[in-house]
Amino acid sequence: MTKPGEKSAQTRRSMSPTIDMAVIPVAGHGTRLLPATKSQPKEMLSVGRKPVVQYVVEELAQSGIERMLFVTSRGKHSIESHFDTDESLTQYLRTTGREELLADLAFERKAIEYFYTRQRRQLGLGHAVLCAESLIRDQPFVVALGDSIIGVHAQSDIVQRMKELFVKEGVDAVVAFEEVPREEVFRYGIAQPKDGEAETFELADVVEKPSVQDAPSRLAVAARYVFSPRIFQMLHATPPGKGGEIQLTDAIRQLIQRGHRCLGVRLRPDEPRFDIGNFESYFQTFVEFALADREYGPALRQYLLARLVKPSSPPE
Ligand code: UTP
Repeated sequence: MTKPGEKSAQTRRSMSPTIDMAVIPVAGHGTRLLPATKSQPKEMLSVGRKPVVQYVVEELAQSGIERMLFVTSRGKHSIESHFDTDESLTQYLRTTGREELLADLAFERKAIEYFYTRQRRQLGLGHAVLCAESLIRDQPFVVALGDSIIGVHAQSDIVQRMKELFVKEGVDAVVAFEEVPREEVFRYGIAQPKDGEAETFELADVVEKPSVQDAPSRLAVAARYVFSPRIFQMLHATPPGKGGEIQLTDAIRQLIQRGHRCLGVRLRPDEPRFDIGNFESYFQTFVEFALADREYGPALRQYLLARLVKPSSPPE
């Protein structure tokens, strides 16, 4: 049987490097969204009409990613089921005369290969990426967090731009960044650009969750990465950091410290990052996407406008 890494090894010899594989870590506990995530993955929570992870896959597909490798854990089976074709549902919709609904299932038939591996213990994002090592082997690859959508309805080509830069510059990592308010820097990995904060810039350092006073910039790591396989060596050498977890940011830091070039790319203002990992941003993301819904958005806007002028009931 051909492993995901083997297909590309052949292709790479005959062509310039093709980056067509993404690792999507979805193994986290999602404790900040309890009880919603007690028995369902946070990555399957609905934002408007679709689960979060479907937006992630659709965004990656439009940036030329054809092979998706999910790093999963206990209780995440619904992700696998979501991307399977469901012939009995298709048949049911046909026999009950609701063919128009089949368009909503078109994603099932995209020419994408799905692979799944398990992270047995939740030892952090860096560890989740390391779980993909034997499948990725010696090819460059994308990492896309399964709980973050880029752009309203995932209309972003950030991964395509990052892939192009990675190949053109021959670097070991390209990381997406989003400018955040200074008082929020302590939540993210923060860039220290080498010289200036242009649209693309070289990284001098990246610091996990710095204090507001110590943060070297307001540029926060934004859930999308392109790596050479050298990142695995760094992850093996990365001890547990903040929270006892193996941090991906610490491994990027090691790349830089050992003299390997790493670049940053800023998200454009029209492609904000929606992180659904906590209730505040999940609620905001849901409202944003529901308002942008072609069919129901305008009526929801009217409802909200009317609702917001009425006195509200006390919060729970
Ligand atoms: P988070 O940092 O939000 O962690 O993960 P979490 O465990 O999912 O959530 P909380 O903090 O308990 O609320 C960012 C992404 O990395 C994945 C998550 O599934 C999410 O998509 N992740 C995180 C893993 O795959 N494994 C881990 O050990 C940690």
